Amino acid sequence: MKRVRVFAPATVSNVGPGFDIMGFALEKPGDEVEVSISRGTKIRIRKITGEGKRLPYDPLKNTATASIISLLKSLDIKVGLDVVIKKNMGIGSGLGSSAASSVAGVFAVNKLLNLKLPKSELLKHALNGEIISSGTLHADNVATCLFGGFVLIRSYDPLDIIKIDYPKNLFCTVIYPQIEIKTNEARKILDKKVTREVAISQAGNASGLIAGLLTGDVDLISRSMKDFIAEPKRAKLIPCYNEVRIAALVNGAMNCNISGSGPSMFSFSTSERDAKRIASAMKEASLSKGLKSVSYISKINRRGPVVIK
Ligand code: HSE
Repeated sequence: MKRVRVFAPATVSNVGPGFDIMGFALEKPGDEVEVSISRGTKIRIRKITGEGKRLPYDPLKNTATASIISLLKSLDIKVGLDVVIKKNMGIGSGLGSSAASSVAGVFAVNKLLNLKLPKSELLKHALNGEIISSGTLHADNVATCLFGGFVLIRSYDPLDIIKIDYPKNLFCTVIYPQIEIKTNEARKILDKKVTREVAISQAGNASGLIAGLLTGDVDLISRSMKDFIAEPKRAKLIPCYNEVRIAALVNGAMNCNISGSGPSMFSFSTSERDAKRIASAMKEASLSKGLKSVSYISKINRRGPVVIK
């Protein structure tokens, strides 16, 4: 096998009360990374297309190749690789763009070199790529992208990733208003410490969300999707936050929250028809504040990364 091309999905992290510990994968959008064997021992980025024209070609600075280099180094493998990256979502979108490239990179190399490494091993290296691009350690996008489905990070040290089942009829509407929010900036504005009241409220809602997903209790999911840690601070970074949220709720969304560190926002509903109506309303609300947006309607993506032609 001389060449492997991988699609890795966008992810919605935090999911309301699960700041840094929850996420789910989308069917679309997602990034594509193609890796082929070349002469010598250099890792080279040949081309970056799509939304990532500003991304670095330096393999140590680009999230896709940094994660590949971390993987090869850990196994002491010296091989020449040519990498082509197709970004299908914006940088700073809140949809786990860097995580998707990072995961696609290590997943492709695992297949190309027939390494047969388990996902738990790939995770470490994909995380190294993510740290390079965002400068922070948060695994909610990377782990979710790699494992697919709905993911809970029960612990960071040691990493303990749990896949959570969810109702089959859950549809997600995402809108991506066309502004950029840098994750590290959106983390700087958060309080370093939380009060006991906040810790209790957050734990209650996070537990409620997981219980609601596992039992298929839509009302419990809806009322649990509240964040007391990040969203109250970050809402002001998104000029259309209130309008989009209200539009989603009025149109029957189960709730409406920021995706990752924003500006994308998402909501759940229980039919595709509802999801489409909610998408139009959210987009219109964003436009009312002068922001064009792109919308995506998707079920939760169970598979994570896949090899494509
Ligand atoms: N959990 C991270 C944050 C996700 O909210 O900062 C960033 O996409």
